[in-house]
Amino acid sequence: MSRVAYVNGTYRPHSQAVVHIEDRGFQFADGVYEVWSVFDGKLADYAGHMERLGRSLTELRIEIPMTAQALGVVLRETIRRNKVRDGIVYLQITRGTAPRDHAFPKGVAPSVIVTAKSIDLHKGEKNAEKGVAGITHPDIRWGRCDIKTVGLLPNALAKQAAREKGAYEAILFDEMGMVTEGSSTNAWIVDENGKLRTRDTQANILRGITRAAIMKLVKEEGIELDERPFSVEEAKKAKELFVTAASSFVMPIVSLDGEKIGDGKPGPIATRLRSVYVEQAIRDAI
Ligand code: PDD
Repeated sequence: MSRVAYVNGTYRPHSQAVVHIEDRGFQFADGVYEVWSVFDGKLADYAGHMERLGRSLTELRIEIPMTAQALGVVLRETIRRNKVRDGIVYLQITRGTAPRDHAFPKGVAPSVIVTAKSIDLHKGEKNAEKGVAGITHPDIRWGRCDIKTVGLLPNALAKQAAREKGAYEAILFDEMGMVTEGSSTNAWIVDENGKLRTRDTQANILRGITRAAIMKLVKEEGIELDERPFSVEEAKKAKELFVTAASSFVMPIVSLDGEKIGDGKPGPIATRLRSVYVEQAIRDAI
């Protein structure tokens, strides 16, 4: 089946879905994005991602080109046209197309791009049952990682380093040796003392929507959470290490830089949180 993308007001086959060479997303990474997981054609954590999108746009002073409601219609129509049951939908909004100049152009309409793809949920489930490998990698990103911008080169370099070592994710660390987050995920541990920990969002990290959903579930499950940074060393000594994101839900990491985490198998907390998260995400998808 040929895939279809939404580009600035029209639905086009992927082969014809293009943006201008002077789009500021291409020239300056001057744009933001959001990613929703799709269950049975419906969007998971819909409101959370939409709110973060609004925040990212406001932070960069990109004028929202259409109402959130209209955007929702486009997301769903792109899902429908691509016949996605379970999958992912991506939305990119850039400042638009203008003659190249670092400063913001005046009177330019932002570009809006939506793509959707199907995903084999069983593959992710299999990965989660076995657990995946991680590597550590220095965090060389800019100072505003709370904004979900399309400027993902450091993330792409870190993910590539992970792939080259046969690993699923790169766990990023700062100059103090403290874990910030994953290259496209938030990172969590169950520390040596059995305490669940994830870095606080005062730090230079993305405020993950899956992270926020998991935090609610953690409360409901009566699990105590310590929102505090942890070091690479602590991650390696942890009972459990896992990452969260819209595209991977809760993914247990069972080795880090080749060193076994815990007993080298997905732990009970990650396993439980994955199952309650997926159950809730499917139930509440709209
Ligand atoms: N990545 N941290 C980073 C750097 C991310 O890129 C992501 C999401 C997350 C998790 O955020 P959320 O739970 O809202 O998905 C954390 C998406 C899935 C991506 O880039 O594909």
